[in-house]
Amino acid sequence: MTLYPYTLLMHIMGVIGLFIAISLEMIILSRLRAAKLTAQVHEWLTLGRVIDLLLPISAALILISGLVLTFSVWGWEHAWIELSLGLLVLVGILSPVINGPRLKAIHAEAKTAPEGEIPASLRKAIANPVLRAYVPIPGLIALGAVGMMVLKLDWLGSGIVLALVLIASLIIFAISRKG
Ligand code: HEM
Repeated sequence: MTLYPYTLLMHIMGVIGLFIAISLEMIILSRLRAAKLTAQVHEWLTLGRVIDLLLPISAALILISGLVLTFSVWGWEHAWIELSLGLLVLVGILSPVINGPRLKAIHAEAKTAPEGEIPASLRKAIANPVLRAYVPIPGLIALGAVGMMVLKLDWLGSGIVLALVLIASLIIFAISRKG
């Protein structure tokens, strides 16, 4: 019996979890921006706890199964594997550095906010332009990794995917900072 299909299944389950977590984060931030009352903010922030659980589990599933598949079947001489590993590490570093303190600020403001209409300080923390601009980027990066993995691209093809991800990220970043 080969463990290959089960390991690949684990990898895909991790990828599905990753996309659920990224989508949830985008939904929560957009609902926070639309919220009128502090109680609504608390409700949406509570849902964020699902991300705190789902994201590390998904990332671990992707990484462990990806490494097992690489060592047992594919080897390291593939651009699509090396670059996807790099992208996963990059998102793992960027997200806590960019999102972490800004989400913490929203939680801190929400904790002390009175019931009723959202106070200006909490509204300001929620509307943080960097948070808004960064939030779609992990999804684009993950989509790029899916493209590289499924097509098993060489360095040129993977480079083109990376360039497309970078261009799309910059466009979204610029549009969201203005909007
Ligand atoms: C955001 C990160 C990642 C995403 C979205 C992702 C996505 C995917 C997808 C969709 C497949 C299925 C492709 C297919 O069967 O045709 C796959 C396969 C695979 N991935 Fe990943 N992956 C990621 C990270 C990684 C990492 C970090 C590694 C290695 C350290 C890795 C190694 C592999 C390997 C070896 C396969 C097996 C391909 C096969 O046997 O067909 N992946 N990945």
